[in-house]
Amino acid sequence: MKKSYYITTPLYYVNSKPHVGSAYTTIVADCLARYKRMAGYDVFYLTGTDEHGLKIYQAAREKGRDVKEFVDEVAQQFVDIWKKLDIRYDYFIRTTDADHERSVQAFFQRLMDKGDIYKGHYEGWYCVHDERYFTKKELLEGKLCPECKRSVQWIREENYFFKLSKYQKELVRYYEENPGFVAPDFRRNEMLQRLKSEPLEDLSVSRSSFPWGVTMPGDDKHVIYVWFDALLNYITALGYGKEDDRAFHKYWPANVHFIGKEINWFHSVIWPAMLLAADVPLPKKVFAHGWLTVDGEKISKSMGNAIDPVAIAEEYSLDALKYYMLRDIKFGRDGDFSSENLKKRFNYDLANDLGNLVSRTVQMILQYRNGAVPQPSVPYTEEDKALQAMAGNLFETVNTFIEEFDFTEALESVWKFIRRTNKYIDETEPWKLAKAGDKQRLDNVLFHLAESLRFAAFLIAPFMEETALKILGQLGWDSRTELQKGFDGLKWGEAKGNKVSKGEILFPRKESEGKKDKAVPRANKEKQMPEGLASIAYDDFAKVSLRIGRITEADEIKGADKLYALKVSLGEETRTIAAGIKAWYTKEELVGKYVVIVANLEPRKLRGIESQGMLLAASTEKGLSLVTLDRPEEIFKGAVVR
Ligand code: MSP
Repeated sequence: MKKSYYITTPLYYVNSKPHVGSAYTTIVADCLARYKRMAGYDVFYLTGTDEHGLKIYQAAREKGRDVKEFVDEVAQQFVDIWKKLDIRYDYFIRTTDADHERSVQAFFQRLMDKGDIYKGHYEGWYCVHDERYFTKKELLEGKLCPECKRSVQWIREENYFFKLSKYQKELVRYYEENPGFVAPDFRRNEMLQRLKSEPLEDLSVSRSSFPWGVTMPGDDKHVIYVWFDALLNYITALGYGKEDDRAFHKYWPANVHFIGKEINWFHSVIWPAMLLAADVPLPKKVFAHGWLTVDGEKISKSMGNAIDPVAIAEEYSLDALKYYMLRDIKFGRDGDFSSENLKKRFNYDLANDLGNLVSRTVQMILQYRNGAVPQPSVPYTEEDKALQAMAGNLFETVNTFIEEFDFTEALESVWKFIRRTNKYIDETEPWKLAKAGDKQRLDNVLFHLAESLRFAAFLIAPFMEETALKILGQLGWDSRTELQKGFDGLKWGEAKGNKVSKGEILFPRKESEGKKDKAVPRANKEKQMPEGLASIAYDDFAKVSLRIGRITEADEIKGADKLYALKVSLGEETRTIAAGIKAWYTKEELVGKYVVIVANLEPRKLRGIESQGMLLAASTEKGLSLVTLDRPEEIFKGAVVR
């Protein structure tokens, strides 16, 4: 029987339509779900909408709308957008679903029966946007919410309370016994720290000042607090509390809840306490990711198209959008969704590295072997063997990173393989083999290329299915059937005899910034020069030798409070460079960095050290940043910068 894998996104509030930020979690979770399906798991991927609470009630009322009609409409927008982004969820839950509501009531009743819910009074500062109370101490000046900076309001209510405080010790113990429960580690530590240092207050879990929510069992003047209701979706979607709860038994506990960092407390403290109270096992992991800005700015409604994921997918292709999100933004950290970087990734990684590899391979098989992937034969060279070995390890390598939810490194390792395969073409020079009539060698090279590309296509399939299908199609495979075999079906050596065919260009390059520059008239260019610097001829620039070096050592210099003595390796030689960057970097931060150095600068003595070069850095009075390499890899050590 297949092992189960249950993954969830948060439920999105339906007060506004999805943007890049909300699409982020859904896309990442979708890729993980696809990956796990290909890895042989029986996956259940859940997403949906959070439709109760004061915020949504007010949003509908402000628009003069019937609340149910309003939430139906926005929930449909989520369904539509996920369809356009080809999100393959297994179930879409809405908190207004009648069976969810019934299960929430049953759960609430269970905690009441247990004595974990009691009646009391609550008064405090409430933020409608975040749907939660804050203490006076937590508020910002001017009575603003510390999370969203909006005004809070004083609310006094008769409420029912959940005995959250009762579970404090148990939660601390659970955290300590299950160090992987919350990730990344720094998020876990934040939660644990709070759990250990502040007494937990009981949580108000009902509202009586507005009617939009699940009616409380036993007191219909109250509705259940929106968070209490929404968190339960993770189990009600599986049929918890219903007669047919097979899915619950099959998939619970969830393997991972993906959430944004600002709702970590709800998921890592309140939710587990609710489950402890009901004797339901806790999820295996809560993973809190960071927040996205767009081109350096907080996401806002006025950004229009810049934040519409469908518009971005239409411009760059859905696969490029997904690749960019997972590759460029480290999952778990805050990140910037930058149109500039998206274009770079598109041109460099997708068009150059992958697109070229596909078209070169197909082209050569067409040209030299009439389109049929040749049969390989012994002897194989070291290069052949190394490439095959790398392909053979690819799944393991990627898998290790996926287990840590490190999608950036997972994709980077596939790209290392793609770049290695490109290099293999440069090393083996098939055009020369063809010219020299070395049939056996050329057969082997073309075969190795076709197979490597198939491996790459499989490993990118969970992230970029359309591209994977196109590559396999061009290589002569019945691509959907192939991919359905999953990673288990990936065995080296099956491509013999396949008929390849030329397809469309996978990623037509986007115009680069440089090209646009060409259109700028010369006079204009001169105007853009910084004051006091005249333009120089290219030959003058060419006199400067700029090279890539890797910092291998960083040492203090006696009596110098601004300088470090650095050892910088250019591959064949190591330079000593004195650099005035001590105020900005620790020694540990420096070692391992790839930097740009001016390599033909006259040596200079600084504090008794002969400095054999200079590091490039950007500086303003606010800070200093070294110019480093976008792709910090061994192969660039010593490389010339032009
Ligand atoms: N309804 C609650 C969640 C209930 S889960 C039982 C909620 N909804 S939300 O619509 O406000 O946010 C949903 C998710 O979108 C959160 O995980 C949030 O972090 C994420 N994002 C919203 N804007 C975002 C960015 N700008 N960047 C990354 N994620 C962002 O909270």
